[in-house]
Amino acid sequence: MGRQLSKDENNPLNTLDDWEDNILERYPDPSTNEKKKEEFRNYEDSERVETVKEFYRLNHKYQTYDFVCEKENEFLKFNQKEMSLWDAVDFLNTLVDDSDPDIELDQLQHLLQTSEAIRADGHPDWFVLTGFLHDMGKVLCLFGEPQWAVVGDTFPVGCAFSDKIVYPEFFQENPDAENEKYKHKYGVYKENCGLDHVKMSWGHDEYLYQIMKDYLPEPALYMIRYHSFYAQHRENAYDYLLNEKDREMFEWVRKFNPYDLYSKAPVPPDANALKPYYEDLVAKYLPEKLRF
Ligand SMILES: [Fe+2]
Ligand SMILES: [Fe+2]
Repeated sequence: MGRQLSKDENNPLNTLDDWEDNILERYPDPSTNEKKKEEFRNYEDSERVETVKEFYRLNHKYQTYDFVCEKENEFLKFNQKEMSLWDAVDFLNTLVDDSDPDIELDQLQHLLQTSEAIRADGHPDWFVLTGFLHDMGKVLCLFGEPQWAVVGDTFPVGCAFSDKIVYPEFFQENPDAENEKYKHKYGVYKENCGLDHVKMSWGHDEYLYQIMKDYLPEPALYMIRYHSFYAQHRENAYDYLLNEKDREMFEWVRKFNPYDLYSKAPVPPDANALKPYYEDLVAKYLPEKLRF
């Protein structure tokens, strides 16, 4: 049985997919025809727009520098659960949103669609694996974390918030926006210091990166860590914090993004048929047990 996430003030979204649908709305598939885009917009013109907006309001209000430090202290001890990647997939799949579970693709299907699209384009196996596991950090929801601390566009904390981030006006509610230490362009950072020195808002990206960092090649780790950093990989809003290596590696993040956003296949992937291939792939790169 899936666990129902209670829809309360902390969790305004009916489904985590509403955030991803909002991204699609902002960055539509260039190959999708105009009629489809039109249909999509009509669908969005509803109560959903308001819940997504409320979700961003909470996200932008509460994701402060101190909040990120707190979450790092809490979750980077990795003392929540020890699981194989497969246990984690099953665990993540118990995440059922308030919306009709029959309509929504489950988490595994999103992962398989992403990874299968990567595989079909002939990319290296570690890239396929990255597609397959990139959202596993969403298990944070199952540890009781609010939606706004699991998903949502990510952005640097500890320096000025860019107006290229979706709904920038909501940062007025974030105390860091008034804090002398954090409110200036560079904040606590130095020009081109490199993203490894920059704290990002807390969510499924950073969490999974920290779990995977010893096991996957560097481009894979960048894809995992920055896949929701739209303000950079789509808008280049934080060029002044990136170093040369980041710039090089962001080419991979950009290569990954369309597979994440635009890989919804008309026929859902056959998880059982695909399992042996992914079992081998997981065994090639990852240890038997992972600490979450
Ligand atoms: Fe994601
Ligand atoms: Fe995803």
